[in-house]
Amino acid sequence: MPSTKKPSEKKSTKRPASVPVFQSVKGMSDVLPKEEGWWKAFHEAGMRTAELHDFHLIETPILEPADLFEKGVGASTDIVEKQMYTFRTKGGDRVALRPEGTASVMRAYLEHHLGYFASPLKVFYEGPMFRYERPQAGRERQFHQWGFEVIGDGDPVYDAEVILATMALFKELKSGPLVVKINSIGCKVCRASYREKLKNYYRAREKKLCKDCTRRLEKNPFRLMDCEEEDCKALREEAPIILDYLCQSCNTHFKSVLELVEENGIPYEPDPYLVRGLDYYNRTVFEVWSPSAGSALAGGGRYDYLAEILMGRLVPAVGAAIGIERAISFLKGAMPTPPRKEPVRVFFAAVGDQAKKASLRRMEELRRAGVPVVEALGKRSLKGQLKVADRLKVPLALILGQKEVFEGSVIVRDMVTGAQETALLDRFVEVVKKRLR
Ligand code: HAM
Repeated sequence: MPSTKKPSEKKSTKRPASVPVFQSVKGMSDVLPKEEGWWKAFHEAGMRTAELHDFHLIETPILEPADLFEKGVGASTDIVEKQMYTFRTKGGDRVALRPEGTASVMRAYLEHHLGYFASPLKVFYEGPMFRYERPQAGRERQFHQWGFEVIGDGDPVYDAEVILATMALFKELKSGPLVVKINSIGCKVCRASYREKLKNYYRAREKKLCKDCTRRLEKNPFRLMDCEEEDCKALREEAPIILDYLCQSCNTHFKSVLELVEENGIPYEPDPYLVRGLDYYNRTVFEVWSPSAGSALAGGGRYDYLAEILMGRLVPAVGAAIGIERAISFLKGAMPTPPRKEPVRVFFAAVGDQAKKASLRRMEELRRAGVPVVEALGKRSLKGQLKVADRLKVPLALILGQKEVFEGSVIVRDMVTGAQETALLDRFVEVVKKRLR
């Protein structure tokens, strides 16, 4: 006789060996709840800095036409040539995952005629960027940036304002000492003669250059100045520096920026080798470094020619972007917990069906009064729920049982001393707020 016994309903929690575990794409990380405090601290510091400095939100799509970056950032830059995620959509459009935010912001500025609404336009953004780099510490394929851009004014006061806002954000995060490395890379006029001088210098020493620098020499000789290869670094010691070739106007501009930065107490170091890896820059370029960091926490500069390259219009602009992962990793090294006050939360426990039903409404009353509430209502026993409260280190737990529902009351338990009092449900929010003061 066949067995009438049903197959066991108990599910195996073991994964069959043949089922693969999905993992995130190489170089792209999850931000997990345990990181929440750091990300919130960064976001809040950013929002506060933006508000204090009058920057306004702009959000652009993650996908853009690929040629926006090819034209804007430069087809021969590493970012575009080697690192951009480019593909064709099903409709045949060539698009790219944005490797940075500035070209997109300028595209939006020109597309929506934002210059009519504010001059200069001061915007900020926060979001993921994508670069196909070799993943290593501080270098990911998806990372996040917080950016500030000031579009529509060439005055050096705005170069300084962007540097100030960037440093203010770090100060808000209590980051400790940071330094701004700063340089001027001149304009079309003065750069042309410097370019020739630089090329001539390196052409005479071409044999000693690394492969990348040999390739860059004709197209982008400025990049030879920030090559990390030892031989190239040694050659650069004797190379001509742009500061000796700046035209009068660029010289005056750079001096004004330095004066403003100094007047505002920003620690800075002129760095004649700083050229930055994006083609759109002119005049001021800068990076924010910590004495201990192996890579820049933020970078930026003036990009007066970007609008001209994209749409033939003259719109001076300046901006900066902070690498959020790098900033957080640096902060973690400097302090044990995020520089942010967590709001005090209370725990709500309910025992029995009636109490559980009533609990959502009561928790909402607390939340409406601005008190964050946590719970573990999925656990049936009071003991189990209070164990969670203990683990969460909340100062107060509110306990609702059948008896309390019937009487219209709730127990308020001090989680440190264990002392309990009963409060009427009519005024329990007041009691809780008083106890939290
Ligand atoms: P960037 O120097 O290429 O400039 O990037 C700014 C910051 O993003 C860097 O200083 C670094 O902290 C972070 N970052 C860059 N690449 C990676 C990566 N692979 N992994 C982790 N973090 C990274 C720009 O993107 C310009 N758009 C900045 C700007 C704004 N210039 C004017 N306005």
